[in-house]
Amino acid sequence: MPEIVQSLEAHQLLNELTTTAGREDPYSRYARLREISPIVRAPDGALVVTTYADCGTVLRDARFRKLPPDLLAFVGVATWRDHPALRQLFTSMLMLDPPDHTRLRRLVSSAFTPRRVEALRPAIERMVDELLADLDGEHDFVASFAFPLPVNVIGELLGVPAADRPRFQLLVRDWTQILEVLTPEVLSRADPAAATIRDYLADLLDERRRHPADDLLSALVQAQAADDRLTDDEVVANAALLFAAGFETTTNLLANGLAALLEHPDQARLLAERPDLARSGVEELLRFDSPVQLSPRIVAEPIELAGVTVAPGERVVAYLGAGNHDPARFAQPDQLQLDRADNAPLSFGGGIHYCLGAPLARLEAQIALPALLRRFPKLAPAGPARRRESLSLKGFTTLPVLAA
Ligand code: HEM
Repeated sequence: MPEIVQSLEAHQLLNELTTTAGREDPYSRYARLREISPIVRAPDGALVVTTYADCGTVLRDARFRKLPPDLLAFVGVATWRDHPALRQLFTSMLMLDPPDHTRLRRLVSSAFTPRRVEALRPAIERMVDELLADLDGEHDFVASFAFPLPVNVIGELLGVPAADRPRFQLLVRDWTQILEVLTPEVLSRADPAAATIRDYLADLLDERRRHPADDLLSALVQAQAADDRLTDDEVVANAALLFAAGFETTTNLLANGLAALLEHPDQARLLAERPDLARSGVEELLRFDSPVQLSPRIVAEPIELAGVTVAPGERVVAYLGAGNHDPARFAQPDQLQLDRADNAPLSFGGGIHYCLGAPLARLEAQIALPALLRRFPKLAPAGPARRRESLSLKGFTTLPVLAA
């Protein structure tokens, strides 16, 4: 059985991915990594996989787990319970294995079925129209559209009052930075942000205990009343996950998607002119520049992956953005083709942690992007855009546009 490749060039490429240049263009670096070997060891000791097939295995095979204690040991913070940022993340379904994962996901999954989500179409269309009405002229697309749309959609679903929503953009950005390289400095900003989110949601959940409404936060406190296994920590952490995941990644889908379309005006025209391309177009935009690029797991039992045997305890990271550009799966992977057939990107993950909000994120983008391009056929960049300083969650902090 071959050994896992140790390569200086691979280390250099992986280090580059943490720089501004690497975040601008990870895809050429992923391609080179895949050529070196489909599985390489990173400088931090994790194993990196870059093919579509191997990423799929990491996401779906039950021998890969979240194993929170091992993941926490890997990031090296023994006192994780004292860190609100880590405690909140590791109490959410995203970081748990069955049976806790199953128990927590079941609580909210009925709110996100394709049918329930489709019923939100008229409300989302209304929100899109309202935002577009104010978009004439020069704007930061992130501040004026890509953030407000998803935060208001998930805010309505959860029952977070409209006036409180804007402040969560920076709070969630600071909190989710722990998904990147975890340094003491990152943690020192993430902790107060996570504590603010926790305190805010705990108060709001208390309020719903006293005055239930027709929203998801009320459903969560009612579920807790009926099931004494559900702790206060779990209710707050999973409400925080739903809120954060509900807008951060979708903001990035809208902004990454628009940035790609502005670079490919022929494709933008196509999306504006052909409503039948909304579905495949959004899948292609998800594939082309995925808002989530990395998904880590811990190996629970020995498994063969990319031709090598991987031992229990190893941390393996599926590079979803690399799998999405694997030429063995997608012909001409670096081309944007909105009518691409047989397009199944890895961007929403796979297996038991497959994104709960995928139908909602898809619907928002399928409505918003074609409507935007129809309303402003001459939409153009209006200055330098800035990317978020993270690869795990890939997106823009500002994307200036001239809407005309
Ligand atoms: C374009 C937008 C989105 C992308 C790219 C995205 C991506 C992902 C990915 C890759 C995962 C799996 C992570 C893993 O395997 O470890 C995930 C999980 C999750 N997502 Fe999303 N997401 C998006 C939007 C949303 C929305 C709108 C919600 C709304 C609530 C949401 C809620 C969740 C939740 C709760 C999980 C955890 C599921 C579990 O662990 O069982 N996401 N998402």
